[in-house]
Parts: sequence; structure tokens; C-alpha cells
Amino acid sequence: MNILVIGNGAREHVICWKLKQSPKIKKLFQLPYSKAISEIAESLEIGALDFEKIAELCKKENVDLVVIGPEEPLSRGISDFLEKNGVKVFGPRMRGAVLEASKQVAKEFMNRHYIPTADFKIVYDSSYAREYLREKKSYPIVIKADGLASGKGVRICKNESEAFQAIEDFMEKKIFGASGSKVIIEEFLEGWECSVMAIVDGKTFTMLPISMDHKRLNDGDEGPNTGGMGAVCPVEMDSEMFDEIKNEILWRFITGIVTEKIDYRGAIYAGIMMTKNGPKVLEFNCRFGDPETQAILPLVDEDMSQLFYDAACGGKLEKEQVSLKNGACACIVLSAQGYPENPRKGDEISGLETRGEVEIFHAGTKYENGRYITAGGRVLSVSAVGASLSEAIEKAYKKAEEIKFAGKHFRKDIGSKILSRRQ
Ligand code: AMP
Ligand code: GLY
Repeated sequence: MNILVIGNGAREHVICWKLKQSPKIKKLFQLPYSKAISEIAESLEIGALDFEKIAELCKKENVDLVVIGPEEPLSRGISDFLEKNGVKVFGPRMRGAVLEASKQVAKEFMNRHYIPTADFKIVYDSSYAREYLREKKSYPIVIKADGLASGKGVRICKNESEAFQAIEDFMEKKIFGASGSKVIIEEFLEGWECSVMAIVDGKTFTMLPISMDHKRLNDGDEGPNTGGMGAVCPVEMDSEMFDEIKNEILWRFITGIVTEKIDYRGAIYAGIMMTKNGPKVLEFNCRFGDPETQAILPLVDEDMSQLFYDAACGGKLEKEQVSLKNGACACIVLSAQGYPENPRKGDEISGLETRGEVEIFHAGTKYENGRYITAGGRVLSVSAVGASLSEAIEKAYKKAEEIKFAGKHFRKDIGSKILSRRQ
């Protein structure tokens, strides 16, 4: 099988790394170019939004399957375009991808299909928003811009003045542009968060192990929200909670896409708050999580090329859950100074050599004059598998310490919440 992976972050690096282990792969392509990924795949200088060139490449190289990593090409219709050109794609079409691109669409979909989520109100007008908040008077309250805002469009407001500030910023100052023309005012949920991902073939799903992301920049969940500073997998929970996730979230999602005739073949990722009233969906993403994927795939004991292909073909998935290797995996994200606001770039990176006990997946790096330098906010993901979660964490941190670049930042408490819950 010839496979093309789209995206050049650490998530796509681990996807290529995992696919490369499959005996079924004849040729593995990836784009846009990444020096680190070029070590394991043919990495090409083609943009992820250059649909015409991607279709040409698929034809020329007899690509059997395209696997899409990031959200943007999906919400811009890459799957619709490539499938019209006769290419099989793992990644939903626009009608499915809008579940991530519009929070309103996602919330209304959840309500129509009885998928548990926080109570919400959609408002289109800032003066009505203030009136609603004055009447509601329940704090904290969550205010979200409707559209994509790079993870910054969510504010947890402790009082009326913070809430009014969010309304002003999103709806009047339009700090996220058109994304703020509608906002969602949402009930604040208390609990702990986990990430649930599954591979969907339009009719059923195969679930990946549950993982946990760490979204805030600093230890103890302090500091600004980021794309994710580290992840651990698996996350254990009692079987009642697990069944609720499977039956009330994933199966209802499938019922939703089937009854609404949404041709959804690709990854679904539900960000979940485990509350005392059961799991509730915070958001849907139409792709795999980053950095969760870097903590999940090293544990998966399956040929991912087959699973992606079966999903892309439609209606071919057979197992409700993937098989797993023993043990646990921890992924530590190393970020650049100034991330997420204004990451510093151009610092030389050393200590990247590994001896197989850990894997390093590249995100914001560039190769120049025979060395890697920093070139983005989240620079590297360091993933380690261990017999136990504490062993995996220890191994990942050992390598995270050995890697050096000026301004390197990482959280020191990845996985600690899970370890302390077990005691
Ligand atoms: P989202 O982009 O919707 O996943 O929100 C980003 C983060 O904001 C989540 O990971 C949660 O930590 C937090 N969050 C979002 N919605 C709520 C909610 N209704 N209650 C509590 N926290 C929330
Ligand atoms: N780790 C969060 C995300 O991928 O959206």
C-alpha cells in the first residue's frame, strides 16, 4: 500500500513512525516537508492546502490512501476534493469537520442526539449576551467564541466583569474576527478531563485507549491554555464510566452521523469532562489529538495502515477497541520560550540522539547547516513506554532533561494527577 500523510507536526511524525512499522506499506509519503520525518518517509515540499498538487501527487505515485493529520485542510474540504479525484481519504469531509470548526454546530448536534454536554445558550448579540448574563448570575460561567481560535477562544469567567470582558473582546473588539460573531455561554463543569479518540468508518468505530492531555502551560494547571504540553495513556476508569463513554458518547455520535447522512470516515476525538454526573463532552475534534497521539500510538498493537484503510473504505471496521501492548506511555512536550504568545525561534537543539528506549517526534524544528534549530512554539514531543506509568514518565523526563536548547520549557508534572489518583 502507498500512503500519504498530510501534516508535519509531532502528531504526523508519530503517525508516520507507526505506519512505517507495517509490512503492508510499500511507499510512505508525507507533506509539507519535515527533515525529521524525511528520515522515515518521502517528505515533500507541498503545502497542506495545495489540493490540486496533492491530487496530482496521488495520481502520479498511485497513492492508495491519504491520512490527514491537522484540522485546517479538513475544514477546508480536502477530503471532499481528493475523493472527487478518486483518492481514498482517512479524514472526514467538510460536513463532518464542521463539528470541530463550529462549536454551535457541535453543541446542537450533541443535543439532537442526546450526547451529554454542558447546558448552553447561543447568543448573536452583545447586548443580549449581557442581559442574559445579568439574569443568569451563576459563576463561574464559560464563554466560547463559535469558530476556530487556536484554543484561545474559551474563557472561564469567575464573575460578571470577566464575563462582560469576554463578550466585549469576542463580539465587539472581535479579537478572533468572525469567530466571535456568535458566542456560546455555557454551564461550568467540574471534574477531571480526558481525551477519547476513535477511528470511524461511517457506520461503526474502533476505539483507541483513553488518554489525558495537559492543556495549561505550567505545572499545577496554571498559566495560559496551549495546544497541549504533554499526555499520558492509558487512563483507567471504572467500567461504568467507560461504558457511558462508549454508549452515550461514541455510539450516539455514530447514530448522529448515520441519521444525518454525514459521511464521516476518519478520527473522532471527544474532549471529555468526567463529572459526578458522568462523562460530558466539552468539544469534538475531527482529527487525532496532539500530543495525545504521541502517547497513544506507541502502545497500539495493530497495523494502523489497515485500520486507516478500512475506515476510509467505509463500513469495514470490525473491533470495538484496538489491541494494546502492555504498559503505559508518557509524552512530554518541550516548548520554546514565549510559547504560546510569541515563541522564540532559531535556537540550536542538542541531545536528540536516542537508543530506542524513547522516541522523539518533531514539531517546531528546522534543519539548517547540519543541525536542528527551534522553529515553532511546541518544538518536540518526547515519548516513552514503560512497564508502568511511573516508569514511562521517568524515562520520558530523563530524555527531556538531556535535550538542550535555549529557552526550553516543559511541565514537570505530566501524569502526576493520574498517579496520585491511584494512591
Ligand atoms: P474547548 O476548546 O471547548 O475544549 O475548551 C478548552 C478548555 O476549556 C477545556 O479543555 C476545559 O479545560 C475548559 N472548558 C471548556 N468548556 C468547559 C466547561 N463547560 N466547563 C469547564 N471547563 C471547560
Ligand atoms: N491536545 C488537544 C488537541 O489536539 O486539540
